[in-house]
Amino acid sequence: MAKPKQNDLMDKLVSLCKRRGFVFQSSEIYGGLASCWDYGPLGVELKRNIKDFWWTGMTQKRDDIEGLDAAILMHPKVWQASGHIAGFTDPLVDCRTCKARFRADMLDEARCPKKPSRSPIENECDLTEPRMFNLMFKTFMGPVEEDSSVVYLRPETAQGIYVNFHNVLQPSRQKIPFGIAQIGKAFRNEITPGNFIFRTREFEQMEMQFFVHPSEDEEWYEYWKEQRWQFYLDLGIRKEKLRMHEHGPDELAHYAKKAIDVEYEYPFGWKELEGVHNRTDYDLAHHMEHSGKDLRYFDDQRKEKFIPYIIETSAGCDRTLLTVLVDAYREEEVKGEKRVLLSFSPKVAPIKVAVFPLVKKDGMPEIALDIYHDLKQQFKCFYDDSGAVGRRYRRQDEAGTPFCVTVDGQTKEDETVTLRNRDSMEQERVKIGELKKVVAEKVTL
Ligand code: GAP
Repeated sequence: MAKPKQNDLMDKLVSLCKRRGFVFQSSEIYGGLASCWDYGPLGVELKRNIKDFWWTGMTQKRDDIEGLDAAILMHPKVWQASGHIAGFTDPLVDCRTCKARFRADMLDEARCPKKPSRSPIENECDLTEPRMFNLMFKTFMGPVEEDSSVVYLRPETAQGIYVNFHNVLQPSRQKIPFGIAQIGKAFRNEITPGNFIFRTREFEQMEMQFFVHPSEDEEWYEYWKEQRWQFYLDLGIRKEKLRMHEHGPDELAHYAKKAIDVEYEYPFGWKELEGVHNRTDYDLAHHMEHSGKDLRYFDDQRKEKFIPYIIETSAGCDRTLLTVLVDAYREEEVKGEKRVLLSFSPKVAPIKVAVFPLVKKDGMPEIALDIYHDLKQQFKCFYDDSGAVGRRYRRQDEAGTPFCVTVDGQTKEDETVTLRNRDSMEQERVKIGELKKVVAEKVTL
């Protein structure tokens, strides 16, 4: 299947996302709010399926990971202890001529608004000295806006897990090594958001913190690197578009001893999709110090009390969704006409099955509606009886629907329907009574 040229792929994707109801600009009727996006009917299904795929793999299919859903607003001391107040900063520079702001460490990727074909360096912009800018969004708790009521919107979900370490440990009766998984919103006042939903100021993370004995950190780090690589292959992402990037000493975050990024080759270059970090005992040790609470773990087999090391896997949900979209986008020519399709893995496709009557007569709509009502008890389905069947197939190809069921003249004779595969466009005849089983085999997480 042909891929469109990389440089127009993003434009085509953004336009398809709007047209088909995947992603809209936030507050569009007011001119939009920069770098904020809303998920439409197909987008929200795709996002939920990606989250379910991650969540099922982390919690349901494993015995050693528990789930959590912590509040976005946390005690401000959390961010002192975590180092975010002091160190969660990016270097910012201003251009004295065009008045634009750039991240000083990403100047080669930035574009000068006066000459968007050039970076500020190429354009020899008149830049100020860099100054550090804290990325956390501040707000006030309660009616009075004073220093003592400042709270922050969390810039990562991880801290909610660390402060709840003992709360989860006790009722779950887990023993180290074990993990805590969480999906939730995070906020960063990014200096240069962009590339559609790649870098935004409000986004969702899927994070898992795995607590281990300090002597076993290296092996668990290697283990989770492999697991996370496999996750993207299982999600249907092409292997040749993925790579691992191990952080050098100057790239490591303030909490990390070792880190790798799983990177994807987007139309705008190789970029981070997920980070796997060896956070050592940095977080628990700092929370112990700042809260005065003992967060150590007693290992009754080793007869030893210690601060666990943490191996973190941290994926962006919106970024995974963008990756799934970019990777699935195809254009091809069929009988002289262009066909656009999103060849999502059936596991995450927003609509699993579309049901059509071939024509709106001879009892076909009634049978098709019965099938639709039955299938939708188990899968997200779509019923469509308008226009030529070829056009209905195209509409579902563009929405990424892996299967279309068509009721035709033969259905009344032998109780079979056609089941069309989105990618191959091949059709097979399937007994109505077997449809659920056939589809379930392909779409189950
Ligand atoms: N708790 C560790 C942590 O937050 P990170 O590398 O800063 O690590 C993890 O972020 C993941 O969160 C990234 O790999 C990316 O997928 C996603 N992410 C981070 N900043 C983002 C942003 N501004 N917009 C969208 N996704 C973002």
